Amino acid sequence: MKKIINVLLIAITIMSCGKNKTWQEIAPTDIELNPLQMIDEDWLEVSAGKEGNMNLMTISWGGIGELWGKPVFTVYVSTSRYTHKFMEENDYFTITHFPASFRDKLSYLGRISGRDEDKVAGAGLTVEFTELGNPIYAEADLAIECKKLYGQQFDPNLMPAEQRAWYERTGLGIHYMYIGEILHVWKK
Ligand SMILES: Cc1cc2nc3c(=O)[nH]c(=O)nc-3n(C[C@H](O)[C@H](O)[C@H](O)COP(=O)(O)O)c2cc1C
Repeated sequence: MKKIINVLLIAITIMSCGKNKTWQEIAPTDIELNPLQMIDEDWLEVSAGKEGNMNLMTISWGGIGELWGKPVFTVYVSTSRYTHKFMEENDYFTITHFPASFRDKLSYLGRISGRDEDKVAGAGLTVEFTELGNPIYAEADLAIECKKLYGQQFDPNLMPAEQRAWYERTGLGIHYMYIGEILHVWKK
């Protein structure tokens, strides 16, 4: 009896992680999560690259909206991040949202660099590749596939003095803004 209960508990845990649920494509307008909740409170992963040559990192800066008549997702990636190289070298990026139980993993993915560790393995994630070859994760509950429309580094001379001083103080590479057209949204 104890054994059966244990097996059931394991099955429920796996199901609650979303891994065994299937992706269902939805329209960008059908994303139910509040943008600020999703980006600033829950955090997201931004990923870029292809099988065997990809990286991901946690973000809490970003935006979702409309530009040039297209639904868009905007991310801000510092040049200090390994992910920046992948954002520059690839035409696409993906955004993934995870269940609350993944908070520690998102924290790890936002603390460790892919230069130093295999972060997918470190976080115990299962990568899946979209038809376009872009990485999303079996454990995520929302995935957004974007095509880069525009990318540009912030100009320190156009920033408020407070932000310019922050970059000078921290030595953090100035962020690039990447605006991506939302091509696909999948949820579980
Ligand atoms: C909650 C959280 C939010 C973050 N948001 C951003 C962000 O929006 N932009 C950014 O450049 N870095 C952000 N970071 C920092 C990167 O995730 C972190 O430096 C990461 O280790 C970079 O990994 P990489 O070197 O493999 O690209 C955030 C980190 C955390 C923990």
